[in-house]
Amino acid sequence: MKTIAIAIDGPAGAGKSTIAKIVAQKLNIHYLDTGAMYRAVALKVLQEGLDPSNHEQVISILPSTHIGVTYQHRLQRVYLDGQDVTHLLRQPEVAKAASEVAVIPEVRIKLVELQRSIAQNYSVVVDGRDIGTFVLPNADRKFYLTATLEERARRRWLEMREKGYNQSLEDVKKELEARDRNDMNRTFAPLRKAEDAILIDTTGKSIEQVANEVCRYLTDIFADGL
Ligand code: CDP
Repeated sequence: MKTIAIAIDGPAGAGKSTIAKIVAQKLNIHYLDTGAMYRAVALKVLQEGLDPSNHEQVISILPSTHIGVTYQHRLQRVYLDGQDVTHLLRQPEVAKAASEVAVIPEVRIKLVELQRSIAQNYSVVVDGRDIGTFVLPNADRKFYLTATLEERARRRWLEMREKGYNQSLEDVKKELEARDRNDMNRTFAPLRKAEDAILIDTTGKSIEQVANEVCRYLTDIFADGL
């Protein structure tokens, strides 16, 4: 059976996960959140009391780290060593640690293998940093979502406030800048727009506007059915 893959890459706060969820729901296919997998590895590193920027320490726990995902109503749950840790993954310290462990090639290789195997078995909308460039270079459609740093920081600040985390807007902005730097400057599969990705600047646009824009580029896929 042919599967469909739609890749959505871009920096934090560009709206990837919100849009990916909407598109996946409209197409009635899975939403694969690859960032959550990096966050799960980061959570384990923090739980073990290790330093996420120490490559040797992180690599040492990889063989005994099991990351798994399941789908409930087509939404992803992430398991770390058999425990559902989905609810723990959006904490600010986990986000910071995720961007540190994500520069380590060994971490990426392990997670990319899992991502590719899911995309082989299911039709998916996948969001991340290297999906169009590295994980699924033959994806049926690729998008690169971005927005100004100010707007991305404001969105993330609002999200964190709603979740009960009390960070200042300035701190959120600094953290996003640091993560962008890690993501764009790493040697192995950095964040970059794939040549054949459709660029959408979401600055000043509502979720609905962006979702409609993305769906306009998918009319052939909608028309063909899945
Ligand atoms: O939601 P947000 O964009 O803030 O983060 P995320 O997508 O959950 O990803 C968390 C971190 O994992 C990012 O800061 C990246 O460093 C890393 N990541 C990556 O390197 N490659 C991916 N395909 C997805 C995430």
